[in-house]
Amino acid sequence: MRVIIESTPEAASRRAAQMVARLVRQKPVCTLGLATGGTPLKLYSELIRMHQEEGLDFSRVTTFNLDEYVGLPPSHEQSYRYFMQKNLFDHINVDVRNTNVPDGRALDFEKYGERYEQMIADAGGIELQVLGIGTDGHIAFNEPGSSLGSRTRLKTLAPETVRDNARFFGSEKAVPRLAITMGVGTILESRRCLLLAFGENKADAIAATIEGPVTAQVTASALQLHREVVMVLDEAAAAKLARREYYDEVESAHRMLETGKLPWIEEA
Ligand code: GLP
Repeated sequence: MRVIIESTPEAASRRAAQMVARLVRQKPVCTLGLATGGTPLKLYSELIRMHQEEGLDFSRVTTFNLDEYVGLPPSHEQSYRYFMQKNLFDHINVDVRNTNVPDGRALDFEKYGERYEQMIADAGGIELQVLGIGTDGHIAFNEPGSSLGSRTRLKTLAPETVRDNARFFGSEKAVPRLAITMGVGTILESRRCLLLAFGENKADAIAATIEGPVTAQVTASALQLHREVVMVLDEAAAAKLARREYYDEVESAHRMLETGKLPWIEEA
């Protein structure tokens, strides 16, 4: 797990956008896993800028979103399909037919979950999965107690998540109580994960995710079992990490490798 700490959400989002852009440039036919919420907004606006100003080409990219609220039509302003169109898809040259957001109005969620998994497999699996994190340590809508092997399915939102998301719906009462979500097992199968977290309200969840035990009570902690995870944090979200000094060491080691300058080797 690589932990990158930037001074601000803006700097962290630019860093994350560079990682996504590098993949899209190297592998124009690729599959991205995308997330919603306030956290990835700046990442998406940076990708839009890169598309508009630098010609970053999404024409052959396929996307799969993590989750969707049950019952909301795509035209609902709080649906995750609406969010993705407004904040990313409508501003880049992705083919909308290659963008997938779970259908919150599916009638048979068990069958639909299997179908979504099959669609991901048919697309060759997810190359890079963008993730945010809930204040209770959830990824996608895998609330505490979700099986770490879970697949795409229905989940009931935890009271903490309902409270967190009430700001988007105007009241707690209006927040859907059910969502269809990729499982932790689905997310662990993506080849790379890129988790973003900003703000002090994420600091406890981030410390538990990175330095706590692997537990279904903090589903993001399952990422410790993944072979390639990058966490991009701002200072506030990183504030409760005990091994901060080491993460900074790793970053300066990466810079040394990039420049080829190893200070402990005397120049001849
Ligand atoms: C929701 C989404 C998650 C997201 C989380 C955090 O629960 N299902 O994918 O990570 O919210 O949202 P925010 O980025 O707004 O803090």
